Amino acid sequence: MAKLMLLTLLGLGLALFRDHRASYQARLNAFGEVKPVELPNCNLVKGIESGSEDLEILPSGLAFISSGLKYPEIKSFEPDKPGKILLMDLNEEDPTVLELKITGSKFDHSSFNPHGISTFTDEDNTVYLLVVNHPDFKSTVELFKFQEEEKSLLHLKTIRHELLPNLNDIVAVGPEHFYATNDHYFVDHYLRSWELYLGLAWSYVVYYSPTEVQVMADGFDFANGINISPDGKYVYIGELLAHKIHVYEKHANWTLTPLKSLDFNTLVDNISVDPVTGDLWVGCHPNGMRIFFYDPENPPASEVIRIQNILTEEPKVTRVYAENGTVLQGSTVASVYKGKLLIGTVFQKALYCEL
Ligand SMILES: *[C@@H]1O[C@H](CO)[C@@H](O)[C@H](O)[C@H]1NC(C)=O
Ligand SMILES: *[C@@H]1O[C@H](CO)[C@@H](O)[C@H](O)[C@H]1NC(C)=O
Ligand SMILES: *[C@@H]1O[C@H](CO)[C@@H](O)[C@H](O)[C@H]1NC(C)=O
Repeated sequence: MAKLMLLTLLGLGLALFRDHRASYQARLNAFGEVKPVELPNCNLVKGIESGSEDLEILPSGLAFISSGLKYPEIKSFEPDKPGKILLMDLNEEDPTVLELKITGSKFDHSSFNPHGISTFTDEDNTVYLLVVNHPDFKSTVELFKFQEEEKSLLHLKTIRHELLPNLNDIVAVGPEHFYATNDHYFVDHYLRSWELYLGLAWSYVVYYSPTEVQVMADGFDFANGINISPDGKYVYIGELLAHKIHVYEKHANWTLTPLKSLDFNTLVDNISVDPVTGDLWVGCHPNGMRIFFYDPENPPASEVIRIQNILTEEPKVTRVYAENGTVLQGSTVASVYKGKLLIGTVFQKALYCEL
């Protein structure tokens, strides 16, 4: 509480000097009320108790889920256990999760701290899984090959780069080829958390390939989810603390030019794109303050929105699911498969619903 008071005072003080960013209460949507939106048939996924921060569903119905994120200032229910990648087969009647075994001699399992994930499937149907990892709170991208028979991930490579210092999410366009968001970048090491709360930290999007690494968009207030349209022509970027989703045109040379932005009244986290319809499904935090200051009595709420026809004059935005945190706390991601919706959270459970 003292920390909160101090931050409030400092925030108010600084607000007098700045007009380019809203106050941190507004940015964190501190007073966000949650009007519930229910779905008819929802079940918590058995075996997920310490987060399902990111997930990706393959066209075959296999879902990869990253679990056990440890992130500065954010709750963890299993602080002493390494994170893991879970597999769920959505074709099953009552799907359960299985922890994928990780093989490969150079990989340190004890410090595994997975965050955003993305898959890439090549012409031979080999599935690569790219995982943002924070061993000791640093940032790397781990490249794995998925071995379906063995239910394991073979570690192929660790990617590090000075332009990938604080990774959040990643979208793969090849096995060693991706766009990634750096959610923050501190100007002064000792003022880290102040910079983040006050919106002074930088945040940017990087294009990475083995031969070229380049910042393609910057100036975000916590760039978070990133994804790409099914035709590969547009890139969507969620700006968490500004409550915006930006649409960029992607060029053949991988540069991005801004096309439009949509405003929301909630913190937009991960963006999932329906491969068939092109709709965006977004995991959101209606009261983001409760993510950063966890109180089990007043847990963070969950909310999922769907955006249809984003490129048109009038995109259709629907709140598909919203709940005050009694069932599901801190939703980050939502993705659809055959009329069902799988919702993940930062540090708590996962929910599987009929639409
Ligand atoms: C990349 O392509 C775009 C669109 O064709 C062009 O406007 C831009 O100048 C190119 N940028 C570079 C660095 O080549
Ligand atoms: C979450 O976002 C990351 C990139 O930001 C993406 O790779 C991943 O596929 C997203 N999750 C879903 C379900 O789309
Ligand atoms: C959350 O919603 C449930 C069901 O609508 C209600 O019973 C509960 O009191 C609410 N909790 C809070 C903290 O608002």
